[in-house]
Amino acid sequence: QARAAGGASVFDFPEVEAGVDADHHVADGYDADVLLRWGDKLFPDAPDFDPANQSQAAQERQFGYNNDFVGFIPLDGATDRGLLVVNHEYTNEHLMFPGIVTVADGKISVADATQERVDIEMAAHGGTIVEIRKIDGKWQPVLDAPLNRRITATTEMRLSGPVAGHDRVKTLDDPQGTTVLGTINNCAGGVTPWGTYIMAEENIHGYFQGELPDGHREAGNYKRMGIPAGDYQWGRFHRRFDVAQEPNEPNRFGWVVEVDVHDPGSVPKKRTALGRFKHEGAESVVARDGRVVFYLGDDERFDYVYKFVTAGRFDPDNRAANMDLLDEGTLYVARFDEDGAMEWLPLVHGQGPLTAENGFETQADVLIETRRAADLMGATPMDRPEDIQPNPETGRAYVMLTNNTKRDKADAANPRANNAFGHIIEILEDGQDFTATTGRWEILLQCGDPAVAEVGATFSTETTRNGWFGMPDNAAIDADGRLWVSTDGNSPSDTGRTDGLWAVDTEGAARGTSRLFYRVPVGAELCGPCPSPDMTTMFVAIQHPGDGGDDWEGHGRPSYYEDLSTRWPDFSEDMPVRPAVVAITRQGGGRIG
Ligand code: FEO
Ligand code: CA
Ligand code: CA
Ligand code: CA
Repeated sequence: QARAAGGASVFDFPEVEAGVDADHHVADGYDADVLLRWGDKLFPDAPDFDPANQSQAAQERQFGYNNDFVGFIPLDGATDRGLLVVNHEYTNEHLMFPGIVTVADGKISVADATQERVDIEMAAHGGTIVEIRKIDGKWQPVLDAPLNRRITATTEMRLSGPVAGHDRVKTLDDPQGTTVLGTINNCAGGVTPWGTYIMAEENIHGYFQGELPDGHREAGNYKRMGIPAGDYQWGRFHRRFDVAQEPNEPNRFGWVVEVDVHDPGSVPKKRTALGRFKHEGAESVVARDGRVVFYLGDDERFDYVYKFVTAGRFDPDNRAANMDLLDEGTLYVARFDEDGAMEWLPLVHGQGPLTAENGFETQADVLIETRRAADLMGATPMDRPEDIQPNPETGRAYVMLTNNTKRDKADAANPRANNAFGHIIEILEDGQDFTATTGRWEILLQCGDPAVAEVGATFSTETTRNGWFGMPDNAAIDADGRLWVSTDGNSPSDTGRTDGLWAVDTEGAARGTSRLFYRVPVGAELCGPCPSPDMTTMFVAIQHPGDGGDDWEGHGRPSYYEDLSTRWPDFSEDMPVRPAVVAITRQGGGRIG
């Protein structure tokens, strides 16, 4: 049921026309400037990007691949200077390496991996921390800044919290069960109130191969996580990714990672108290009593919405006192009831079914198998929970549910079977208290084309043909409390448009009105959206441009040497298409949106 024509929107910009082409497009009156591309130098001694002569050593000093989460951490309270933190979620080998794709008899194949290629891929994963400055109104990376850092799939990290040192995370290389090499598939993330960078480990199953030894205790655990999926060939060269040789290694991934960006030598910590699943992101908010609440989505069909409430309180005057807040607290999973009520169910060892009889000897077992614990508690299976963004002013949080075409039976919180376009749920915590264990929920939007009745979209009637979207993925709340939504999966064949960034009204009569602010080149998804604290810039991450663009104007699956659907952003025959972070500013300066 479409909403009635609404009142005044809190946004005021001329809408971009939805569509598909090789370039990106931003609203009139704005500039969209490429800030950092895959391969760009991050240090004075970094080599220039040379796609035909890549190396692990070069990639470790350059911006990584497939930028996803983007965060901005101000330095010394300045508005024109800060650290940009960016996740590099995964690699698209067919778009990265020249000459590895062949087409024979209409069949496309990618050459078997080599150790060199795998090591470059591992160096292209992880994250980037880089100082940026605004000079004459335009952001630039500062290559000689002291805090610049690359984090990769081989960076040493510490397991921290209840799972650290547990038998189930011990390996041949790490008999103590405390030291892990690297982080992988960092999708969305967060910046904590104390200025650390959170990287969420999402689709970790793809990196593991091999077969568990017969009767291994992790068989059920790994099955629930889809491990091993063997999408990458890393295990052929690094035995820790082969579960036959290192059966516990997958228990060391699937966590939330916290990085102290103010110390470039700090050892990132995998904060096990926040559970192990396919973490989309971890956006946080300080509750009224000073405890800090992290909202966590588990991006899989029929998986769950979580939140973590720290035991300790945030101290704005003592940064050091906050640095281990994420090691102690309560992890909850959401049950959405048919009547619009909801409950946050604690995942605490010894409570309810989370006992030794069910295979949970300690809290470490509950956390290693968070999904199974949540199953037993009666959580509500959702349509792929992605980013969840709290609005600190209203006590509400917005849950992106991207889609679920495998759903047969609708329920109140997942109201469409075969949900191709996803929806957004608004959580209203009781008493506007983010630590509440009960609340209410509403559906803010059912996504998809409102002109197609059977889709059942609920955008307001003020929403134009450019303004609707499908597949919400990331979200941001800006300093004025306004909601921005970016998408993953809109394509020429199903929506006649690329992904992009939409501005969505949540208040008053305009609630449910959406308009298009920016759209990406063909094949890309849009990640990040990160409004600067002073609202003069919107940073966005253009991920996997040119990929999956195979249904656009007859282009085949693109590769470096094939007939690409786009060569964004360089548009040069010598350069592959490249993921990049873009800074959107208003021409002449001023507030975004
Ligand atoms: Fe990596 Fe859930 O998107
Ligand atoms: Ca995502
Ligand atoms: Ca977000
Ligand atoms: Ca996604």
